[in-house]
Parts: sequence; structure tokens; C-alpha cells
Amino acid sequence: MRQFKFLSIACVLLALICCNPQKKQAVQQNRPPAGAATVATPHDSLTVDLLALKDRGAFQKTVAVRVVADPVFMATKSFRAVPLRAFLEKYTSVENMDVAQTQLIFECGDGYNPSMPLKKIYARNAYLAVADMAAPKGQDWVNAVKDGHQKTIEPFYVVYTDVPPSDYSFKWPYNLVRMKLVSVSEETRAIFPHDDDTMVEGYGLFRTNCSTCHALNAVGGVMGPELNYPKNVTEYWKSNDDLKAFIKNPTSYRRGCTMPAQSQLTDAAIDQILKYLTYMKNHKKS
Ligand code: HEC
Repeated sequence: MRQFKFLSIACVLLALICCNPQKKQAVQQNRPPAGAATVATPHDSLTVDLLALKDRGAFQKTVAVRVVADPVFMATKSFRAVPLRAFLEKYTSVENMDVAQTQLIFECGDGYNPSMPLKKIYARNAYLAVADMAAPKGQDWVNAVKDGHQKTIEPFYVVYTDVPPSDYSFKWPYNLVRMKLVSVSEETRAIFPHDDDTMVEGYGLFRTNCSTCHALNAVGGVMGPELNYPKNVTEYWKSNDDLKAFIKNPTSYRRGCTMPAQSQLTDAAIDQILKYLTYMKNHKKS
């Protein structure tokens, strides 16, 4: 929770600095400090806290957009919105990132974190919708009903005016609160979960907590052993419970083990990492 608080404060600060063109120079991508014995440093990233930017008036100027066959509302809809690309270029230091190598991760209130290559989004007319023009007076949004369930759309919803709903490679995240831009460099391409959004969180946690010492597909540090090739660690450890207990406290398994206990991680975070590691066994690269 404290970490969370710190993160949100950091995001607000970042957003504040990003909004000031004079200070833009001061904002570099969040490059984590180099760890001991590292080969590859974790990816660069940039967090965009949409609610903080809203408080600063970033969404006062909107345009009306019409979406034919909106896939969430299952109807033709009109929204008040801002063009996503212009928004990112104005309010973030996205120009410091290489568009061709950047993945945009959407963070939704319900924990759903779909992601897409930034280049793919830039090639279409993508908008950050801030209000449903059919909402009752005094209200920005109405819930959508999808598959018989009420969906909370506020505070932000990403829509396109030129993408057919049948194209599932485009994401339409609603209940959107934050966006993260992550650089997927040539090198990290071999370990980024391109074909499964649900692995992105575990990937990020692995990059931050484990990559400094461990490689996957030869990408990462060498202080500890490679964990994916030729055999993935989940293929020869008896159970995920053992792996989890080892990660929390390596010396409870191996006397004199030099891997530090990963006590900074919650059980849920270790579960995400193990989910990602298990996924990687089907994505080996020599
Ligand atoms: C500071 C370096 C360091 C960090 C950070 C680190 N490890 Fe390790 N890890 C090691 C070393 C060194 C070993 C080998 C220890 C031994 O065999 O005694 C190891 C061993 C392991 C093993 C056992 C491998 C095997 O083949 O039995 C697993 C699994 C593992 N680490 C997972 C992780 C995960 C997951 C993270 C991140 C949450 C992590 N490690 C973070 C250094 C590190």
C-alpha cells in the first residue's frame, strides 16, 4: 500500500513536470538504477496518471467523435474525447521513447491491463474518451451492459473511429485510470509476452526484481542461472509452492545460497512472476 502511495505521488510529480514545457528536459524515462552484476538493465518506462492530468485540466478541450458499432456498448456511440497521440505528445515525455519499440500498457480499475504496440495505435485514429454524449445531464458516463454484466466505463475509455470491431488485435480498454509506456528493445523482444496481455504484469515484475541476476532466453543478468533455456525452471522444480517458498527464502532450501530473499514481493506478485515463468517455457529461444 505504501509503495502504491509512493508510486501515485511519483506519477503525479512526473505528470506535473511533464506538463511544464520548460521542465520537460528534466524528465527522462524512469531508468532504474543499475543493479549489481547486471548485464541488461530493466526496460525504460513512463507512467501516465490520467486522473492527475485531469485534475490539471488536460481534458478541458475535447472533440466530438462518433464510433460506429462500438464493441463495448454494441451500438453506434458519440463521445467527447481527445486524440490519444496528440495527448501523449503534449502531456508526457513520449518523444524520448522510440515509437517503434514502445508498448503501451493500459491499466484499468478492475486490474485488466491490456497492451498494444504504440506504433499500431499511432497508425489509427485513437481517442481517449472522457464522456458519453448520451449520458444524463450532470453525468459523464453511463455503464455499459456487456455479456449480461454492468461495465463501469468511467473515468476513461479508449476508442477508435477507423477500426472495425471485428479486429480483435485492437484493445478498447474502459475504466481506464493509467497508462504505461514500456520500451521493448530489440534485446527484450525475446522475453516480452507479445501474445498474452495477462503476462505483462509478471513480465514487469520479473524485469524489476529478477532480471538483474537471471537471464531468460539469454536476456538478463548472469549472477544467477538462466531460468528458461534449455530447461525452464518450472519444468524441473516439483511444484510452484516450492518455487514460491524458495524465492521468498532461498537459504531455507540451499545452505549458503547467495540469492537474496525476495521479501519485498507480496505472494500475489510472486504468483504473477511464476505465471510468467511458466508461460515462458513455451517461448524458448536459443
Ligand atoms: C542478486 C541476484 C539475484 C536476484 C535479484 C534473484 N536471484 Fe534467483 N538466484 C540467484 C543466484 C545466485 C541463484 C543460484 C543460487 C544457488 O543455487 O545457490 C539463484 C537461484 C534461483 C532459482 C533456482 C534455480 C534452479 O535452477 O534451481 C530460482 C527459481 C530463482 N533464483 C528465481 C528468482 C526469481 C523469480 C527472482 C526474482 C523475484 C530472483 N531469483 C532474483 C541470484 C538472484
